Amino acid sequence: MNLTTIRTIGNLGAGTMGHATALQFAMAGYPVILVDQNNEALDNGMALIKKDLHTFADNHIIEDEEVAPIMARITTTTDNQALAKADFIIESVVENVSVKKQVWAATEQIIRPDTICATNTSGLDPTEIATVLTHPERFVVAHFWNPAQLMPLVEVVPGEATAQATVTTTLALLNKIGKHAVPLQKASLGFVGNRIQLAVLRECLHIVNQGIATPEAVDDIVKYSLGRRWGILGPIVSADLGGLDVFDNISKYLYADLSNTTGEDVQLKAKVDEGHLGLKTGQGFYDWQGHDGAKLV
Ligand code: NAI
Repeated sequence: MNLTTIRTIGNLGAGTMGHATALQFAMAGYPVILVDQNNEALDNGMALIKKDLHTFADNHIIEDEEVAPIMARITTTTDNQALAKADFIIESVVENVSVKKQVWAATEQIIRPDTICATNTSGLDPTEIATVLTHPERFVVAHFWNPAQLMPLVEVVPGEATAQATVTTTLALLNKIGKHAVPLQKASLGFVGNRIQLAVLRECLHIVNQGIATPEAVDDIVKYSLGRRWGILGPIVSADLGGLDVFDNISKYLYADLSNTTGEDVQLKAKVDEGHLGLKTGQGFYDWQGHDGAKLV
């Protein structure tokens, strides 16, 4: 299977991530077979897709006339058999290794041996999921970032049995639909993006906990310095430009003082135990009462 032979996309799951991946492929011109367990989940997914498309049209990202043809490219079904026609399948069902194994074992009975199978897991081991497959060489992780209709990055992660051709074709397809697909050499907990995100968050919360700065100050410091620099250059290029001798000197006195907490983060646990989950409950590190999260930027 190569890029030119991929004509139809199978999309398993129509939830938060699944509706958004279906939308991305349909916007790029691919027919999409959207599969979920029941009609309610499919209806919800299609309603989200319609809402996203109208937001794009309102913001002049697409024309109003494009909404209907994009939606018409997506067919919905609760019958997995429809995936027999798919050349590439992206799966976004619940983050549970047993469920994913069950779904992929059943799906492999239906599809061709060369159909590429991609899981949008947040961090489960692709080698473990692929143990249920007869053809694990066509199985790969394509980890989209939420909201997938806006975030460019997709981490493409091979399992131990994944063929290089599977990675190459997956990267080409994702780049073709407008994503920025980045290959990893192997799987790890959290892949790369979440490792960095959590390492930075751990230090930010440690700074707050030590009374060094408020959450507002920490957010401002990142937004007006690292956010801009890393948004353009990335952290490793930034180190090269700053001078590795400079960063080496800083590392000598600073590494030992950084948070090395292991296990659950005490501050996150405390908030969760209080029922303060952020925007969705109206309270997190910030007060979100009466705020719907829109127009933050
Ligand atoms: P969700 O709960 O919004 O959607 C999951 C969908 O899968 C539901 O519609 C459910 O009915 C469906 N489903 C469950 N079992 C199924 C089956 N056997 N066949 C067909 N459909 C089935 O979950 P969400 O957030 O979209 O997550 C899906 C995957 O994407 C997970 O692996 C998650 O870790 C990953 N992910 C989630 C991100 C997020 O921020 N929500 C970000 C990146 C990846």
